[in-house]
Amino acid sequence: MPDSNEGKLIVVSNAEPYKHVFGEGDQVRCLEVGGGLTTAMNPQMRKAGGLWIAYGRGEADFQVVDSAGKVMVPDFPETEPEEKYGLKRIDFESSVYENFYRGYANKILWPICHTFPTRADLKKERGYWKKGYLPANEKYAQAVLDAYRPGDTVWIHDYHLAILPGLIRDKIPEAKIGLFWHIPWAPWENFLKIPHDREIMESIMSADLFGLHVSDYVENFFRCVEKLGGRVDRDQGICELDRYSLKVGAHPLGVNYPFFAGADTEKKEEFRQEYGAEEIILGVDRQDYSKCIPERIRGFEEFLLRYPDYQEKVTLIQRTPESRTEIEEYQIEQDDINREISAFNGKHGTHQWVPIKLFWEGIPQEELIGEYRAADVALITPGIDGMNLVAKEFVAANERPKALILSEFTGSNRQLEGAITVNPYDKEEVAEAIKNALEMEEKEKKDRWDQMRRVVREQDLPTWAEDFLTDLNKEIV
Ligand code: UDP
Ligand code: G6P
Repeated sequence: MPDSNEGKLIVVSNAEPYKHVFGEGDQVRCLEVGGGLTTAMNPQMRKAGGLWIAYGRGEADFQVVDSAGKVMVPDFPETEPEEKYGLKRIDFESSVYENFYRGYANKILWPICHTFPTRADLKKERGYWKKGYLPANEKYAQAVLDAYRPGDTVWIHDYHLAILPGLIRDKIPEAKIGLFWHIPWAPWENFLKIPHDREIMESIMSADLFGLHVSDYVENFFRCVEKLGGRVDRDQGICELDRYSLKVGAHPLGVNYPFFAGADTEKKEEFRQEYGAEEIILGVDRQDYSKCIPERIRGFEEFLLRYPDYQEKVTLIQRTPESRTEIEEYQIEQDDINREISAFNGKHGTHQWVPIKLFWEGIPQEELIGEYRAADVALITPGIDGMNLVAKEFVAANERPKALILSEFTGSNRQLEGAITVNPYDKEEVAEAIKNALEMEEKEKKDRWDQMRRVVREQDLPTWAEDFLTDLNKEIV
């Protein structure tokens, strides 16, 4: 991370790392916000300081900020002052936010990048761009311009802010600008379907460095550049489009290994007694259609039907923090999942055994570690996921070898070779993977686990951040 005499780090993302909510009486409470982006950048900022600019989405967020919209976080009573950093909160008119967040970001870019084009709303006349994406990014740009001093580094995160590099570059030509994309980059046949694809591409091109998790996404991006008439030098990791030249690289996001490996917590007995099972299978996913929870339930059902001896012996604990509840599709999916799981438990459960226990609440990572340790198997089967940090956290949290079942369509599957790889849409394959995971010989389990622990330990979160910033500061020759 840049030190203070090199200038400060300005992180910009739509999601904020902490929100403030009303507690009992007049009390305002500070809460951590989950999701891969915030859980990744927050430890870095606590260590190195700087300024984080984000949308204030907590109900009490603007009660605690100063006149410039800033608050020092985390503001838990136990936090040491040197661990705090500045969070500048942005607010939007509701119609702008609606068109920006619900519209362009989550009805166009999210489904397109996750290769669900039929879920995307690509009609230009909706105004998602003009009435939302553009003005919202302009507001973020103004906040960066207000905070920027020569020598600062601007690190932008994710698909909400794809046109921010261009807006900042127009005003500060010499700024050092990095953009990291936390979700997949779609094949060109998908990406170039979106309205304003060229504007997005040109803005990204005006950054100094564009980071994606894995080389497949880098290649998808390069193909988009070529399709728009640009040139790519794959050996150097550089591409050119019109007057722009950009460095692009795979930077697989890691986790805070010592934090997950070191904590002292265990929940196994509690779970075993509560749900009447000997073996615990765990799924942890923010609620999102890309995580394919219904398909997972079908795979688990197939397993119980094929191997009835496991009835009353195995419980699937599925922790699925609610997410994007303001978007109708997410509400509908939540209802569907509730219905499916109660039908499942009604059909397969018994007096003393709950086959699937679902939690909609998110919990702090300190507590999540207890669940990672309680589980014998993690079942992580998104239809597609940029990285999937949960898989890596499960590995980091457990010294004792366990089994990890992981979708082949996740970024983390490229690194975690010891995982049992599945196609989440194939319920027979998922069923067999569960059996394999529960019955795997200790020697094989250990060999697989050792490979995964090594990768997660060596390619951890600080390494990711340092590599990205080092690459950003290297001049293109
Ligand atoms: N998480 C959390 N509390 C929960 C569930 C998840 O803090 O109850 C965190 C989890 O530790 C992980 C992040 O949310 O760091 C999810 O990141 P991931 O990359 O797996 O998925 P994303 O939410 O970014 O799609
Ligand atoms: C993913 C995205 C993040 C986003 C998070 C939570 O991790 O890559 O950019 O912040 O999901 O989604 P939300 O819409 O609640 O910010």
